[in-house]
Amino acid sequence: MERVMGGGMLQLFLASTGILLLYRILVRLRPGAALQDAVVVITGASSGLGKECARAFHAAGARLVLCGRDAGRLQQVVQELTASSTGSQRQTYTPSTVIFNLADTDTVDRAADEILKCFGQVDVLINNAGISYRGNILDTHLSVQRDVMETNYFGPIALTQALLPSMVHRRSGHIVVISSVQGKMAIPYRSAYAASKHATQAYFDCLRAEIERYGIPVTVISPGYIRTSLSVNAVTGDGSKYGVLDKTTAMGRDPRDVAQAVLKAVRQRSKDVVLAGPMPNLAIYLRTLWPALFFKLMSSRARKEQKPKAE
Ligand SMILES: NC(=O)c1ccc[n+]([C@@H]2O[C@H](COP(=O)([O-])OP(=O)(O)OC[C@H]3O[C@@H](n4cnc5c(N)ncnc54)[C@H](OP(=O)(O)O)[C@@H]3O)[C@@H](O)[C@H]2O)c1
Repeated sequence: MERVMGGGMLQLFLASTGILLLYRILVRLRPGAALQDAVVVITGASSGLGKECARAFHAAGARLVLCGRDAGRLQQVVQELTASSTGSQRQTYTPSTVIFNLADTDTVDRAADEILKCFGQVDVLINNAGISYRGNILDTHLSVQRDVMETNYFGPIALTQALLPSMVHRRSGHIVVISSVQGKMAIPYRSAYAASKHATQAYFDCLRAEIERYGIPVTVISPGYIRTSLSVNAVTGDGSKYGVLDKTTAMGRDPRDVAQAVLKAVRQRSKDVVLAGPMPNLAIYLRTLWPALFFKLMSSRARKEQKPKAE
């Protein structure tokens, strides 16, 4: 009897493994979404990952709307992209720009109207802009926690909600958000940032389920460290600029590689992508499967990293 049960279990295991493998192969073989002529909106396109996404999607033939707060820096990106198009085999387009501050959610509706006017529709919205934070909770003003939340969470969801009705109306579109591995597990001295990215993950997971029926996919991308100015631009507990290129960020992934991974995720309409090495992936699993160990490791990291000023 036991042998029969054991054989049955083995068959079930082999069958489910086979189905899983087949599913993965089919997902890989699925034709990618075409990006030639697609209208792609990228927030935070003036630097770092946003700028590299702009390069990647421009080269793929997309019609870009680049967003940021600094008109001069965005114009520089437009010029670089236009110059890079010379001799390209593809039809490429001069990007449009829309200037607005994501932290000022009252202005986002106006910005969304401006974005829609650029090419008459939005096919892919990439919510990329963001700001980081370094600080000890004991010394952090509540206003700083709120400001980071405005830029990283309320801004992107306000823009998404303003552009979504036009996608639902057309039964077409794609929402992408650049979160972080810190949207899946929280590390010490990053409270405002990790909280904003956890909120982001939760909101866009809900959105995915709610709008799937309209044929609009939602992709959450969670990278580990990327070699950009994110830590330099980060805010500290009193709201001043951190101004330091952290070693972890300096040794992070090349933003060009991450941008190619974003392009691939958009083409494959992936739902949730973690772009990180084995350690962050292990930490994410530990947080779910062995939280007691994860909390111990984080406490020890907090003790080692910094002596809280407020002690
Ligand atoms: N670098 C990393 O290690 C890392 C890891 C995981 C996830 N990420 C995520 O990747 C995304 C891109 O960051 P990055 O690494 O490329 O950093 P970055 O070089 O500092 O770029 C941030 C971009 O966001 C824009 N931005 C910031 N605040 C804004 C606001 N209030 N309104 C509108 N735009 C604003 C900036 O544009 P202006 O200043 O010109 O307005 C800039 O273009 C962020 O969401 C970040 O959380 C980064």
